[in-house]
Amino acid sequence: MTAFVDDCVAVLYASQTGNAESISYSVYEEAVRRGFGASWHVLDDYDKFGFDSLRTVVFVVSTTGDGDPPDNSARFWRCLRKATRADPAAYKHLRYAVLGLGDTNYSNFCNTAQRLDKQLLAAGATAFYPKGLADDGTGLEEVVEPWIAGLWPALERVARCGSADSSGAGALAESLAGLAVGGGTDAAADVTPPPPTADSAGAAYEFQPLLLDFRPLAALKSITGAPRVPPIVCAGSFLDAEAESRYWSAAVQSAAAACPPWHAELEASAPHDASLAPFLATVASARQMTSAGALKRTLLVDIALPAAAAGHVRGRWHAGDAFNVFAPNDGRLVAGLLAQLGVDARTAQRPMLLRRAEPATEMPAHLRRFGSTPASIQDMLTWSADLCAAPRKQLLRVLADCCAEPADRNRLLYLCSKQGAATFDELRRQRPSLLEVLRAFPSCKPKAARLLELLPPLAPRSYSICNAPAASDATWQIAFNVVEYELEVVDPFSSAEEASAAVTRVRRRGLCTPWLEELARRSAPPQILVALRPNLNAFRLPPPLPAGAPDRRPVIMVGPGTGVAPFIGFLQQRASELARDPARAAAPLTWLFFGCGSAALDYLFRDELRAKVDAGVLGRLSACFSRDPDACAASGAARYVQDAMLRHQDEIADLMLNRDALLYVCGDAKGMGKDVNEAMATILCGYLASRPDRARELAAQLPPAKGPADAAPLTRDQALQLLTLWASRRRYLRDLWA
Ligand SMILES: Cc1cc2nc3c(=O)[nH]c(=O)nc-3n(C[C@H](O)[C@H](O)[C@H](O)COP(=O)(O)OP(=O)(O)OC[C@H]3O[C@@H](n4cnc5c(N)ncnc54)[C@H](O)[C@@H]3O)c2cc1C
Ligand SMILES: Cc1cc2nc3c(=O)[nH]c(=O)nc-3n(C[C@H](O)[C@H](O)[C@H](O)COP(=O)(O)O)c2cc1C
Repeated sequence: MTAFVDDCVAVLYASQTGNAESISYSVYEEAVRRGFGASWHVLDDYDKFGFDSLRTVVFVVSTTGDGDPPDNSARFWRCLRKATRADPAAYKHLRYAVLGLGDTNYSNFCNTAQRLDKQLLAAGATAFYPKGLADDGTGLEEVVEPWIAGLWPALERVARCGSADSSGAGALAESLAGLAVGGGTDAAADVTPPPPTADSAGAAYEFQPLLLDFRPLAALKSITGAPRVPPIVCAGSFLDAEAESRYWSAAVQSAAAACPPWHAELEASAPHDASLAPFLATVASARQMTSAGALKRTLLVDIALPAAAAGHVRGRWHAGDAFNVFAPNDGRLVAGLLAQLGVDARTAQRPMLLRRAEPATEMPAHLRRFGSTPASIQDMLTWSADLCAAPRKQLLRVLADCCAEPADRNRLLYLCSKQGAATFDELRRQRPSLLEVLRAFPSCKPKAARLLELLPPLAPRSYSICNAPAASDATWQIAFNVVEYELEVVDPFSSAEEASAAVTRVRRRGLCTPWLEELARRSAPPQILVALRPNLNAFRLPPPLPAGAPDRRPVIMVGPGTGVAPFIGFLQQRASELARDPARAAAPLTWLFFGCGSAALDYLFRDELRAKVDAGVLGRLSACFSRDPDACAASGAARYVQDAMLRHQDEIADLMLNRDALLYVCGDAKGMGKDVNEAMATILCGYLASRPDRARELAAQLPPAKGPADAAPLTRDQALQLLTLWASRRRYLRDLWA
């Protein structure tokens, strides 16, 4: 029997869209398998599992927003801050390892993991294993797999004395041992089969075949590096006839709304703060904001809040906040999937309860409600599992074991192996739904319940509220782009000469926005489930000063495309403040940088913005048109918001450095957020180049520069550090999304 220094290794996670949750669960399972006394928790449950008394912890945390921690760790961070304020060495008893998930396309790569590491070290804790930072942009697996493989020997050293299993036997057993490529090496092993054409199942779903190259598989004798098959964690049992009829009579009552049948449980899920509880609301009106020919279709939709919900959120939301929309998977996709799995309609709709498959297993957090709330497989697939998430290796590994044909199994094993890494990347790039993956391996017939536990949770989608409560407090208005795009897929069998002819254009659609558009077009749209999502980064205008007092701080807003949404609310708020206190009319500069493709096709809120300029609410409006070079040439406008900012660099630098201005940026995190940050660094360096005294004064607020002294009064790195400092002081506020 193994002796432990401590009796427990806690695996803790913070996850916005489910990756960190599922990876942390694999770590937990493997820890249990290796004989560690392990537990697994979400960070926000810190008081339930007694965080302060833990000795050995493995954290798996992702980053969201603009370098923000996931929502399910917000309370934990507050507690950490409080504990370390009370005792700077509060965690000197703690040994930990951190695995961060992030994406290098965002500007604050793995900020949650970096912050956590820094704060724990500062609070006296010891890192027993170097942190791992995995990049979703290139594939999490590249870092996650070796990091987990190296975790076990490190954990052996700190969490056990003596070692019954120090050889690491069983360590990712399959991944190291190699899997034989057996039987079935038929000619089909190097191609993904075309979709069955005669099959009506899923016909209504816009199905796109996968184009993947499996030719290298033919030369392989064994496959290495495939993940271990995770144990089954959920088991389902159908309700008896009496319970089923009770279920149906309740279900009929909620069928009219476009929401999960268990919405009542969700509505009761935030007893401590009624303003955060989801509620049913009405899609009251919708209009298209863009003209035919625009690059994207943007809709403006009004969501009417019922009186009770409006009462609960009154005074709790502000311009700058967002709300969550609970949207389903496409019904045609679910129907196609059920047919592919061989689940008949009656079975698909029978209510069931889920339970742990074994007492020692844990169900994923998003399925736990089905331990007491019955739901059908069809409803769970529709509302709880992300059927369009990029496929994970663990799922592919399980699917391999569900194939009747060795050729299908081999291809799936190859996809999740080390040798198949390039084909795996191509699979993810094609962004297939689960149905498309299954159709590529026709003999693969997993059980629906097994899929449910392996798929990430279906996350609600968030939308910034474009109106201010002062303008209307029982309506939430949103502006969103309907997500539809095409991917280019090259047929791997085409020769170099015919390559251009062999490019297939694959159409993909988003989940929530096409659904909202379809609902909005109905003559009587059904209710949908929504919940307030307050902005945790203080992305708000400062509160008004007492009547008669002039505002002191200018405001610069940067919001291209739908990123302008919260600023419309800001301007409405300002307008109502000015109406109440006209003496303020001569007040502070409010300057908006807006960008779109063309002035004629997609200039969102054009009339409203002009009216705000005319009314003196918006002092300056700088609009840019990225696809309209003629308009830019004629009006002197820039193409992108960051270009427009650079044109006004001295004024912006002056506002930020000498007039204590606030800078707000909203919209696309991957491109625009980074570009604006870079532009601001250029602006600061340029302005301070001729003001060395001011530059020195600012540099003194920053950590000492590393490396040789630079000739510039403020280096680019220092300018970036200054921006980070402003962000922490809430002078530079960013609300960025993917
Ligand atoms: C706090 C917050 C506020 C937000 N406010 C708004 C808002 O006001 N307006 C708004 O429109 N959105 C907003 N969003 C984004 C919104 O939540 C959704 O992400 C967006 O509407 C897409 O949802 P969907 O379900 O339709 O698409 P999804 O099913 O989520 O698909 C979107 C995904 O498709 C992929 N994709 C999209 N286009 C392409 C392409 N051309 N090539 C390759 N892949 C592509 C990307 O991976 C993208 O993440 C906000 C997000 C947050 C977090
Ligand atoms: C809206 C959004 C914002 C993100 N912001 C960041 C970020 O600021 N920094 C970063 O490193 N990764 C960022 N990411 C990438 C996620 O951290 C990454 O995709 C991770 O795998 C998600 O894990 P989760 O599913 O556990 O939340 C962002 C992803 C999304 C969808």
